[in-house]
Amino acid sequence: MEKYLLSIDQGTTSSRAILFNLQGELVDSIQQEFTQHYPENGWVEHNPDDILSTVISTTKTLLAQTKISPEQVASIGICNQRETTLVWHRETGKPIYNAIVWQDRRTADYCTELVNAGHGELITEKTGLLIDPYFSATKIKWILDNVEGARDLAEQGQLAFGTVDTFILWHLTQGRSHLTDATNASRTMLYNIHQGCWDEALLALMDIPVSLLPEVCDSAFDFGETNVFGGSIAIQGIAGDQQAALFGQTCFSPGTAKSTYGTGCFLMVNTGEEALKSNNRLLTTIGYQINGQVHYALEGSIFVAGAAIQWLRDGVNMVGSAKETEAIATNTSVDSGIYFVPAFTGLGAPYWDPEARGAIFGLTRATGINEIVSAGLQSVCYQTDDLTQAIAKDGIQIQQMRVDGGMAANNWFIQFLADILNVQIDRPKTVETSALGAAYLAGLQAGVYDSLEHIQSLWQSDTQLTPQMSQSQREKLLHGWQDAVARVLKK
Ligand code: G3P
Repeated sequence: MEKYLLSIDQGTTSSRAILFNLQGELVDSIQQEFTQHYPENGWVEHNPDDILSTVISTTKTLLAQTKISPEQVASIGICNQRETTLVWHRETGKPIYNAIVWQDRRTADYCTELVNAGHGELITEKTGLLIDPYFSATKIKWILDNVEGARDLAEQGQLAFGTVDTFILWHLTQGRSHLTDATNASRTMLYNIHQGCWDEALLALMDIPVSLLPEVCDSAFDFGETNVFGGSIAIQGIAGDQQAALFGQTCFSPGTAKSTYGTGCFLMVNTGEEALKSNNRLLTTIGYQINGQVHYALEGSIFVAGAAIQWLRDGVNMVGSAKETEAIATNTSVDSGIYFVPAFTGLGAPYWDPEARGAIFGLTRATGINEIVSAGLQSVCYQTDDLTQAIAKDGIQIQQMRVDGGMAANNWFIQFLADILNVQIDRPKTVETSALGAAYLAGLQAGVYDSLEHIQSLWQSDTQLTPQMSQSQREKLLHGWQDAVARVLKK
């Protein structure tokens, strides 16, 4: 009986179920989008029922469509949109509020208060993060402070908090497992990444009862068994989607790096067993934890990458599909002098300016849709360069970068990326790298793989690109970008 690994990839705009064979090759996948809710300016919510129902229906459909029985699934891995925050009743599993999504800025004022009260250094010291509404802690506090009766129930131990992995796991195991993994915990701004525990001082500072929190486990672990899919299947891998991509790209040795181009772009470089402190506004985070051993990473988070292309398509109808951008950019000069800064929801690393907003500079009468579309793609490469420059200042020179996510399919984009970063870009055969990483973690725990070396041997290159641009051209383009960014910053 042939065996498979099943991944549940619960992302910001859709849920996916993906089946891999034991060689890490994609067999089949199903994706389902769900509604985004924007109840107020800067607020972003998901209906928890949508999260659960799309996870369950995509998985059921996938198993039915491939005619694969639960006995043939060696293990399940979960990867998820990180930081998004849910609080539910322990008794019923029913959430007390919508999921507050990572992009949500409602706690910006409270974050400013924390900064002004001088807590920044301590929080970064303990969590590796910078105070920002992006992370879960201030979202939990908002729910406890704003949902009627929530704080009392929390103090009585009747509520549970979870990031999306924990919420899915709870429901797939009918409330038996209230667990998370170290990568997801490291995004809450409540987890001490050096001591490997929830931090009492931070819980006290933000007035969050410890009874809400899940137990933190390795990323490869026996998280529980689910019977939701018509037979018992073990869930043995969990990681935040960006960390899962790091694992799926087999970036196991210090200095190896990946960047994932989805809604946003998240660049991570493995720093090994050492938690490298950034002096350049990058995040220190947990890359993965196996057998109790933490492997750290440095992360640069860009909030708008693919979302800029989505805006060109849906917001201003400049393209009919994301795919068209490749041909447009191929036939447009990179030298048009147009710079598009897609700071729609502020700027993330290394600027961390929540008040900055998007702009397009350099317009002339010769500017057309093609120049603006091309500038949109270029902006994602320039933002990535901002990150690699910051990483270099922190002492890590990236020589080679593995890319994945939707935009990595665009050949013009990845060549321009190689040119601007001046590094070799590698695209793997399987670009569903987050899902693959979750499958590998589950497979490791299930004994399908006996070592990281085994997993590493499965990585297969699809395309390798080397820089072609002259140094002077690169410098000229980057100078134009830096000038454009300086004009949108509010901080
Ligand atoms: O930190 C947010 C990130 O995990 C979201 O990823 O792929 O759902 O946009 P994605």
